[in-house]
This record gives sequence, structure tokens and C-alpha cells, in this order.
Amino acid sequence: MIISSAGDYRAAAKRRLPPFLFHYIDGGAYEEVTMRRNVRDLQALALRQRVLGGVGEVDLATKLFDEDLKLPVVLAPVGLTGMYARRGEVQAARAAAGKGVPFTLSSVSVCPIEEVQSQVARPIWFQLYVLKDRGFMRNVLERAWAAGVRRLVFTVDMPVPGARYRDAHSGMSGPFAASRRMLQAVCHPRWAWEVGLWGRPHDLGNISTYLGHRIQLADYIGWLGNNFDPAIGWADLDWIREAWKGTMILKGILDPADAREAVRFGADGIVVSNHGGRQLDGVLSSARALPAVADAVQGDLTVLADSGVRSGLDVVRLIAEGARGVLLGRPFVYALAAAGERGVAHLLDLIAGEMRVAMTLTGARRIADISRDSLAAGIGDAGFGMG
Ligand code: FNR
Ligand code: LAC
Repeated sequence: MIISSAGDYRAAAKRRLPPFLFHYIDGGAYEEVTMRRNVRDLQALALRQRVLGGVGEVDLATKLFDEDLKLPVVLAPVGLTGMYARRGEVQAARAAAGKGVPFTLSSVSVCPIEEVQSQVARPIWFQLYVLKDRGFMRNVLERAWAAGVRRLVFTVDMPVPGARYRDAHSGMSGPFAASRRMLQAVCHPRWAWEVGLWGRPHDLGNISTYLGHRIQLADYIGWLGNNFDPAIGWADLDWIREAWKGTMILKGILDPADAREAVRFGADGIVVSNHGGRQLDGVLSSARALPAVADAVQGDLTVLADSGVRSGLDVVRLIAEGARGVLLGRPFVYALAAAGERGVAHLLDLIAGEMRVAMTLTGARRIADISRDSLAAGIGDAGFGMG
């Protein structure tokens, strides 16, 4: 199969993965309106073509929180990544390090922090949710620090999990889920052999290490549902700001007022995100939310963004709207499922190539040259609200 884009990796992943995993990745909350808007609104932003500006060699390097990146891209935290490829978190982290970008390990990864960080030289970023079990939060923060992690992505848009209709139908949850998953694995022998058999243990490595016993996939949805804490408010988070001496990045901000709160809280950065349309369906796309958020806090903290990025052109679009860097979600997961570490490395090359074209033809030689002037005024609104 010929792979020339993130979309090709999605098609390849769909063939390779048992449906319960493909749809868990590919799906969003409720009717998936926001998930679709993320992609459409971003693609509707028209880039402003400029020619003969003598751009020459494009430089994609940037700095985020004093860390050097070869591309303004970070791999987003994605739960259960070790189910999509054998020890998937390690493979993705290696690919990211090889291409000079950070990898963010989800709290609900298969491989624990220690396993992943011990196999890559570049410090990984670590993602944490607001959970009821404070003991786990403290334990995992200490372990992350001891392993050498210095960037914490604190996800604040999951006080409750949004319902994902596809999961109930695919065997991820719902009736006879375990036997349906088993049947799907049998029908996807390559996955069953490489990941199902040789990718073990399949647990939630960070949580198992804390609890001292295994938490398995069957318990995953239940564990998530029982442990999110909808009662939490800004004041309850002060202890985390105290406990974590490294960089703190709040993920899941969509509103300028919350972005201002993040500044007051003492965050070093935010990720403008709707969790890839996996939480509250119907909220704004990141492409639409970002400009106002960036205007509200630019200069006070570092603004990152995700949700809907499918190409290097989209990376340029979000940077033009005011992001300093972009988190890449589903596309890297598809590349990992399709071709492991090599696939993720190739995808990052594709994104870099697409960025080079977009920057050359918008007249930007360096990342810092990308601005709202890189977008064609007015035209970009055409597709908004059509989700
Ligand atoms: C996620 N996301 C996520 N976010 C987070 O903070 N912790 C997590 O464990 C997960 N898990 C997760 C699993 C899967 C399968 C997906 C697709 C996403 C959200 C992720 O970090 C990011 O915000 C979105 O993926 C961005 O949207 P797109 O670009 O993938 O559409
Ligand atoms: C998700 C959780 C794990 O989006 O963040 O599925």
C-alpha cells in the first residue's frame, strides 16, 4: 500500500487493528459534531499565498519552554497506545526523539513511565488527569520526576468522560465486550500475534505500578469513570502547582476566561483543545476557539493547540492563529498502528515536508515568521459552523 499522507496511515491502521481499537481511536463523543468541526474549520482557514519573496531554505526549528524542537510539534498524550503496537509508547517515544520532538506519555498508557523513559534519551512529557485518588497523583508525579520528566501536561477537560457511542457498539464496552474483542483479535491475526501476544503485559502500567496489581483493559473504562473528579475547582489544584517543580501545561482550555485563570494559577502553558471532540460534543473547534484565547494570554504563557491537525499545513494554520506549537493526536497513532516506530518517524517527515511547502508559499522562512498575516483575511470563515 502506498503511504503519502496521514489519511493513508488511517486506512492502513483500519485494516490492521481489531475494530474495537480502531473505533476507540477514530471516534468521538456523541454525534461527533465537534470532532468533524475540528478538521473542517482548520481546513477552511485559507493560507495567504505569497510568491518570489526569496524565502530560501525554510527553518522548522523552534523552542518550547526552553526545549529545542526540530519541528513545532509534540506527540499528544493518547491512552492505551501500547494496544495499537507492541510496547507502542516506547516505539512512539523513540520515533519522536529521533525526529527531535517531544512525546507525551498518557497517564493511562500501557507502558509505565519508567519503561518508556529508560528507552529514550530525550526527556518525555507526562500527562496527568485530575483524579479522585490523590495518592496516585502524588505517586505518579514523584515517579515522573525521578525518571527525568520535567514537563507536565495536566488535562483539565475530563471531569467526566464524554459518551462515545462507537465504543458501545465496537466491543470496547457494552454487552459481551470481552468475547467480542477476542473474536476480533482472531480475525486480525497480525495484530493478535505482534501486539496481542508479544506486546504483553496489557495493563495500565502507571496505575498498576502504584496499586501493586494489574489493571486490565476490561477495567479500563470503569477505572476512568470512577476516578475522574467533577467536584474539583481551581483552588483544589494549588497543591499540584506546589508539588510539581517543573513546567506545568494545562490541556483542554477553550475559553479566554479560563485561559486567564490558567495565568492566575501559574501555568507555564496551555493547550487549546477539545480533546479531539471526545468530550463535550457541540463545543467550538480549536481552530475557532484559538484566536480569542491566544489574544487573551499571549505573552503571559505559552499557547499550544491541538484537535483536528491532519497535515503540516494544519500545523502552519494553528501557528498562524497564535499557537507556538501543536500537539499531534490521531495521525501519529494511525502511523504507529500501521508501521510502528518507522511509521511515526515517516509521518513526522511528511509533516515537516508539508510545513516546508506551506511556509515557502506563505513567505515564512522561520516559525517566528508565521503570523495571522499568513492567513487570507475573511475567506477562512467560509466553512465555519457547518459541522
Ligand atoms: C486521546 N486524548 C487524550 N488526552 C489526554 O490528555 N490524555 C489521554 O490519555 C488521552 N487519550 C486519548 C486517546 C485517544 C485514542 C485519542 C484519539 C485521544 C486526546 C489527545 O491528547 C488530543 O487532544 C486529541 O487527539 C487531539 O485531537 P485529534 O487531532 O487527534 O483529532
Ligand atoms: C480518551 C481518554 C483516555 O480520550 O483521554 O479516550
